[in-house]
Amino acid sequence: MIPPPAHSRRDPAGHHKQLCREIERHRSLYYQQDQPEISDESFDRLFAELRELEAEYPEFVTSGSPSRRVGPEPAGKFDSGAHAAPMLSLDSSDGREELEAFNQRVSKALGYQPAYIVEPKLDGSSIELVYRNGEFVRALTRGDGTVGEDVTQNVRTILSLPITLDASKRSVPRFLSFRAEVMMRIDFFGALNARLVADGAKTFANPRNAAAGSLRQLDPAVTARRPLEVFAYDILAAEPDPTQAAPAEPELSETEKPRLILTQEEVLNAIGDWGIPVAPGWRRASDTEEIAAYQEALQSDRDEHELEMDGVVIKLNELARRAELGSTSHHPRWAFAYKFEPRGAETRLLEIANSVGRTGAITPVAILRPVEIGGVTVARASLHNPRLVAEKDIRPGDRVRVERAGDVIPQVVEMIPDPGRTDPRSKRWEPPGACPSCGTRLVEQGPRVVCANSALRCPMQMAGQMQHLAGKNALHIEGLGERKCGQLVREGLIKRLPDLFELTEKALVKLDGWGEKSAKNLLGQIEKARQGTALWRLIHGFGLPGVGAAASKALALELGSIEGLVTAGEERLQEVEGFAEVQSRQVVEYLRIPEVAEMVSRLAGLVQVQIPEQPLRILKGISVVVTGTFAPRPGESAEAAAIRKEISEELRQYGASVSTGITGATNLLVRGESGAGSAKLRAAERHGVEVVDRGGYERWLADRLAEAAASGSETLADST
Ligand code: IVH
Repeated sequence: MIPPPAHSRRDPAGHHKQLCREIERHRSLYYQQDQPEISDESFDRLFAELRELEAEYPEFVTSGSPSRRVGPEPAGKFDSGAHAAPMLSLDSSDGREELEAFNQRVSKALGYQPAYIVEPKLDGSSIELVYRNGEFVRALTRGDGTVGEDVTQNVRTILSLPITLDASKRSVPRFLSFRAEVMMRIDFFGALNARLVADGAKTFANPRNAAAGSLRQLDPAVTARRPLEVFAYDILAAEPDPTQAAPAEPELSETEKPRLILTQEEVLNAIGDWGIPVAPGWRRASDTEEIAAYQEALQSDRDEHELEMDGVVIKLNELARRAELGSTSHHPRWAFAYKFEPRGAETRLLEIANSVGRTGAITPVAILRPVEIGGVTVARASLHNPRLVAEKDIRPGDRVRVERAGDVIPQVVEMIPDPGRTDPRSKRWEPPGACPSCGTRLVEQGPRVVCANSALRCPMQMAGQMQHLAGKNALHIEGLGERKCGQLVREGLIKRLPDLFELTEKALVKLDGWGEKSAKNLLGQIEKARQGTALWRLIHGFGLPGVGAAASKALALELGSIEGLVTAGEERLQEVEGFAEVQSRQVVEYLRIPEVAEMVSRLAGLVQVQIPEQPLRILKGISVVVTGTFAPRPGESAEAAAIRKEISEELRQYGASVSTGITGATNLLVRGESGAGSAKLRAAERHGVEVVDRGGYERWLADRLAEAAASGSETLADST
């Protein structure tokens, strides 16, 4: 907890003013600059403090107080526009008691235990989408809840958003406005940040900021390159309003009359019918037990989801009853966000150590007073890079906020301000003058500080490389983690990566902490890896610059062997999915370093590579665009987005290139049942591109396969 500044009790009015200023500043950092400085939890705490103060001193409350507004006023880069209806926020908590209290309030007001709809709370950027006569005309950010920024041109570039609503299943009101969330999938977020790091640009703190930042680009072409998606969850306003029994409109024929929407369930179905993606996974819940079970289930595998979520939203299902509960100026009383437990905790920073990564990058490491986060005790965390520590003046003795997500190394995400800094350890941190592992001079590479020595002569670099080679996405040798890799290198058993295969039981048992059993176990695992490792895993284990697991798979698929990899020139690499000019050059240059070339050839000789049976590359040179929303077939459990991804992956496996824009070179457009943009369909027509639905695509592929079988087309495996 941040102790209240001494003056707060003496000068509550001054404190109120200071809190308002502070909250406005953080809101602006969050909403307008997409670069928050503090976590949501810390922000919520400031906000709670403001509310408490205002409850005690109601005279401080003015219409300008942050407690009376949802977000900051628009920043002015874009035109502003008024929302069709106020975009309120949600009452929220991660406490079960608060959830029970919410349900009790609602049940009491209604006089019965109502049914709710529970939805994932998507952690993206909130927007309003407006359609007139079924055509997309406007998108506004939430802004202050009344007025937002007009980001129509940028939202137009989001491929999954239909430009024309589908009226085939349900008539479309003349005016329709939706509340939706713009999202960036986690893997794209990772890839985007990796690219920003490579360009020496500022990275985004999380997918939400990445989505918001991408949405607020002044050049829609930049937004178009960012893989954004949009999911709607509410109708904000409609005319004629399908949620109200329609006054007789004689000019409407029976089929044009809007179908009445009386529940949240029907709202979500209608949104889907019109072709707008709906956040997957919503369901009905009839009591708080079911709500809590749903929240726990989503929370327990939150690190596996493709979309970032920070809780679940509970909404009274019956729309007509909502009016009875009403809203505050901040949130409706008929909805509640039951949030996930924070991924982080606060603790004290004891010391700052320096570690050297496998690429030689120096990373300051926070040595922490141990703290439990999600059942795991965290005693160290990454501080990213030396520049950050210096800029933020992070010091031993500071209180910090630490977060962890899945397998990712815990990170210090925030410092909790402590103006006095009375801790005796508090001393300005000095970046190291030389590599802490080998003493070699350090060089600056963009935001990174790197040891100039070769990994062969820098023990920590070598240990990092070993750990990477043994990692889950490489040889997958369990039990060879950071500590053991460091030990094997320090003790001189591993001087270069291939030495892994020369370890002996005799040498291992002499080491501290090893016994016969653990040595045998490790050697068994190494032998297993030696006898058969998928090609992509070995490639990934080499640690090529900028090549992660996905890129390694692409290299393995395209090049078919280690020989194919080392002989591929830049041009050949650029033909591999996802490899642009710069990265192709980096990989080729890296593989040419004599020590690297030797390591690669020795490992290739030691490890038996399993080459998966390659599908026929019968679609090489064919260019396909996949667009729209694919409705799952009866009995199919996949979500719409997963189906599209599956089709794209299948096409790629057969060697086709899958792109997003239709050009003269496009051969085929595969469209979902809904949500295929009219501009795309027109472009396809203009270029004479064949358009097929999912069934048509399957027949088309079957025909190509039959043709290939008849002509005896060669496989990739044959050609290598
Ligand atoms: S309902 C009046 N449903 O959470 C109803 N909001 O913290 C207000 N959000 O501003 C929103 N997923 O941006 C709703 N399924 C969902 C949501 C959701 C994410 C966001 C939304 C809202 C914020 C409030």
